[in-house]
Amino acid sequence: MPYDAIIIGASIIDIPAGPVDASVFSTGSHPVDRLAFQVGGDAINEATVLSHLGADIKLVSKIGSDPGGDFILQHCSRHRIDTSSIVRDPSMDTGINIVLIEKNGERSFITSRSGGLRQLKPEDIDLSVFSESSLLCFASIFVFPYFQNDDLVRIFSKAKEHGMTLCADMTKCKNKETTEDIREALSYLDFVFPNLEEAQMVTRKEDPDEAADAFLDCGVKHAVIKLGKQGCLIKSRSERIIVPAVPDAVCLDTTGAGDNFAAGFLYGLIKKQPLYECGRLANETAARCIARMGATAWIE
Ligand code: ADP
Ligand code: NA
Repeated sequence: MPYDAIIIGASIIDIPAGPVDASVFSTGSHPVDRLAFQVGGDAINEATVLSHLGADIKLVSKIGSDPGGDFILQHCSRHRIDTSSIVRDPSMDTGINIVLIEKNGERSFITSRSGGLRQLKPEDIDLSVFSESSLLCFASIFVFPYFQNDDLVRIFSKAKEHGMTLCADMTKCKNKETTEDIREALSYLDFVFPNLEEAQMVTRKEDPDEAADAFLDCGVKHAVIKLGKQGCLIKSRSERIIVPAVPDAVCLDTTGAGDNFAAGFLYGLIKKQPLYECGRLANETAARCIARMGATAWIE
C-alpha cells in the first residue's frame, strides 16, 4: 500500500495574534508578542503530525487557487504529505482564521464567510484513492455542512468495501444533531475520537461510559473519548480501558490537542499496537502539542 493513511478534511490558514484586548480598536498600532502565519484545520494538523511521526500520508482536502493555497501545498511538500487528491478551486478563497488571543488565553476567531474551512463537498472526494491505503480518517464529522448522513454512508461504505480501517474525529454538532441522525454513518466506524463535551452533546449522555456505550449501540467498534487531563477512555463491546494523560504535562495552549491525539492514536494503529499503547501514544502526542502555542508548533 503506497500510504499508511488517507486523511480527509479541512486545510486552512491560521493567523494567531496576541495577547490583545478591546483596546486594539483604539490604539493606532498594536504590537503583540505573537503574530504568525501557519496551517490549521483538523485534517492538515493530523496529516502533519502523522508524517512527522514517520507515516506516509495522503491528504484529501480543498483549497483555493490563491497564496493561502500555495502556502498549504508548500507546507505539505516540506512535510512529505501527498497532495495529489487536494482539490484547488479558483472560485473559493482558502480558509483563513484570525485567532485573537486574550491575556488569559481566551480566543476569538475571525473567519471568512466564503472561506474554505467548510467548503469540502462529497463530490470532491475521489473514492478510487481508497485502494491506496488500509486506513482512513475523516476529520471531522460536523465540520462540513455538505456532508449529511447519506454522504458519509456512501464514503464510509466504500472505504469498508476496500477493507480499510475507518476512523473519524468529531467536532461539536452544529444543529443539535444526535447519534440517531448519523446512526447509519456511525455503524461503519472502527474508531471515533470525540472529546467529552462533543460526545455528551451528540449522545445526550453526561457520563463518559454511557456516552461511549451510545456510540457502541450505533455500531461503532471502538469509542475513544478524550478526557482532557484525565487522558482517554477506550471502549468496545469487550474492553474498557482508561489511559491516563501524561502526568504534570505543561499546558500552554490546547489548540489542536484533539488533532494531535488522533494522530498519535492513528500512528499506533499503523504500527499495529494494542489499544492501550494506541491511547498512550495519543496522550503523549497531545501532551507535546499543548506545551507550545499552536497545533503543530512542536514539530516545526
Ligand atoms: P480537545 O483538544 O479535542 O478539546 P481534550 O481537551 O480532551 O480534547 O484534550 C485532548 C487530549 O489532550 C487529552 O485526551 C489528553 O491526552 C491531552 N491533554 C489535554 N489537556 C491535558 C493536560 N492538562 N495534561 C495532560 N494532557 C492533556
Ligand atoms: Na478536536
